[in-house]
Amino acid sequence: MTSKLEFRLMQEADLDSVLALESQAFSHPWTRKLYLDALTSYECWMMTVDHQHVGHGVISQVLDEAHLLNIAVAVQEQGKGLGLQLLEHLMQRATQRGCVECFLELRASNQSAYRLYERFGFNEIGRRRDYYPAATGHEDALVMVCTLFADDEN
Ligand SMILES: CC(C)(COP(=O)(O)OP(=O)(O)OC[C@H]1O[C@@H](n2cnc3c(N)ncnc32)[C@H](O)[C@@H]1OP(=O)(O)O)[C@@H](O)C(=O)NCCC(=O)NCCS
Repeated sequence: MTSKLEFRLMQEADLDSVLALESQAFSHPWTRKLYLDALTSYECWMMTVDHQHVGHGVISQVLDEAHLLNIAVAVQEQGKGLGLQLLEHLMQRATQRGCVECFLELRASNQSAYRLYERFGFNEIGRRRDYYPAATGHEDALVMVCTLFADDEN
């Protein structure tokens, strides 16, 4: 039987699952308060396989500019192409909402995320020194941008 991949908007009732996934996937996960704010301010998406939560992502929009604020795939589901499918969905939504480019920031040490973004079409355009808190001190952020095409040329 083939499994069914679906996307739906996140609701407050999803937050226990979202926070549990993030506590495994991130060294510095978002808090419940951040998510409660995000639910009212941004577009938060759930990705499910056979109705099981396997990942989620958050995008914000300012005029025609999108920002990918968060993306995560459950640790046990990583490396199967789900991250790319989630990113494709989020960028398709941003395009539908009229965005022409998307920015994001990531930890300089996050190689799997960097490769995922590059594979999709993001380019590195800058670095913010000591932007993120780290286990010891701080860590640089890399800034990436991708042009969005309405006809899915990505
Ligand atoms: C970054 C993240 C979202 C990527 O999700 P993912 O589902 O693992 O992404 P993909 O499966 O599409 O790609 C990951 C790797 O699996 C490989 N892959 C994809 N499909 C595959 C398949 N069917 N078989 C084997 N490998 C596969 C990809 O080539 C890629 O390899 P690479 O990292 O060596 O380039 C995930 O690692 C994550 O949640 N990390 C923690 C949170 C995080 O850091 N988020 C980003 C914040 S900026």
